[in-house]
Amino acid sequence: MKRLALRGRLLDFMDDPALAGAAACCRYFDDGILLIENGRIVEVGEAAQILEKLGDATLVDHRPHLIMPGFIDTHLHFPQTQVIASYGAQLLEWLQKYTFVEEQKFADTVHADRHAAFFLDELARNGTTTAAVYCSVHAQSADSLFAESHRRNMRMVAGKVMMDRGAPDALLDTAQRGYDDSKALIARWHGRGRQLYAVSPRFALTSTREQLDAAGALIGEHPDCYLQTHLAENRAEIAAALALYPDARDYTHIYEKAGLLGEKSLFGHCIHLSERELGALHDRKSVAVFCPTSNLFIGSGLFDLAKTRAAARPVRVGVATDIGGGTSYSMLQTLAEAYKVLQLQNQNFPALDAFYAITRGNARALSLDGVIGSFDTGAEADLVVLNARATPSMAHRMETVETLEEELFVLMMLGDDRAVAETYVMGEGVAC
Ligand code: GUN
Ligand code: ZN
Repeated sequence: MKRLALRGRLLDFMDDPALAGAAACCRYFDDGILLIENGRIVEVGEAAQILEKLGDATLVDHRPHLIMPGFIDTHLHFPQTQVIASYGAQLLEWLQKYTFVEEQKFADTVHADRHAAFFLDELARNGTTTAAVYCSVHAQSADSLFAESHRRNMRMVAGKVMMDRGAPDALLDTAQRGYDDSKALIARWHGRGRQLYAVSPRFALTSTREQLDAAGALIGEHPDCYLQTHLAENRAEIAAALALYPDARDYTHIYEKAGLLGEKSLFGHCIHLSERELGALHDRKSVAVFCPTSNLFIGSGLFDLAKTRAAARPVRVGVATDIGGGTSYSMLQTLAEAYKVLQLQNQNFPALDAFYAITRGNARALSLDGVIGSFDTGAEADLVVLNARATPSMAHRMETVETLEEELFVLMMLGDDRAVAETYVMGEGVAC
């Protein structure tokens, strides 16, 4: 049996600070040890108590750094690593001018394999250990990503996008082909090692009704798979969706009618939703995914967290980078931009809420609570080691920091990949 003991300042979240309160939401050990056996967490506690029972475990001392569960990103696009930082367009033009051009290159397996390796390296360097990922329309792009993730033993949720209209011919499948390819990928990858499948109709503009129905059929046949798509990101997109589906009451209704709303459904963006639509997401326990850097960069709008989570009908929320509409792989930078988006709306985003969101919160958004995102006994030991003094500016600011919350706020406002000292995947350190 392989036993590993990590010593450092340990922090994980037991519950949502917005509901449980600051005192009860987290578990913190100023000098703690995390005991890992065969890649799973078996014990967490004060170093003084656990040191006695280390036995043959290898001890790695990360003090004074902070050890947290690995970050989880609930929405991003693996074929868009060379779309990131494309100048001057809003969503529909951005898709045609940049995104659909790059995604065509993923017909080439060598290209897809190389990008899969880069993509997973970049996630790990940023402390992200699990992500919900869109591949290109080509089934083998999903094979490339899953194969590389499987080789690294990372837990990924991913799927090939289904799109049968509204894009260059080279990027189109058909309703039947999208169904068949997705079904074969589910058989190949869903539940193999740590890989999980997400049925991924790109959005209403690039899927016919027949294809959305096919996606609904796949979810009906494989209810333990995920569903991911985009919803109400941009006003021109909403108008175009309603023009294509004139009998829908609103954008969300298009997906509802195809049976796409459920507990494992992730809807990217959700910026411009009506009360009825938020109510529908709440009723079906679906997840709205907040993508702050992307929403700012593509000029889509400000995600209204308070309205989305309103007590009368709270919608589950995930937080994500949305590479390559998003501008950073770092979940720390993503939290910084989320904070600013909420500031513009007079809403708060305390550091505890923010770090809960990218660990246990996003694990809950993926229905993986207890599996990843925490130090729960038996949880997979995906971890990030954070250095709040990683840059001169951070170290300088840290001289005046007195509390853990202040330190976390420095990390989220000033931190990025440089603040990630180490990332562990199933108890194995990966080069950063
Ligand atoms: N809507 C449909 N496809 C996409 C995409 O690739 N990125 C973003 N941000 N929105 C989308
Ligand atoms: Zn997206």
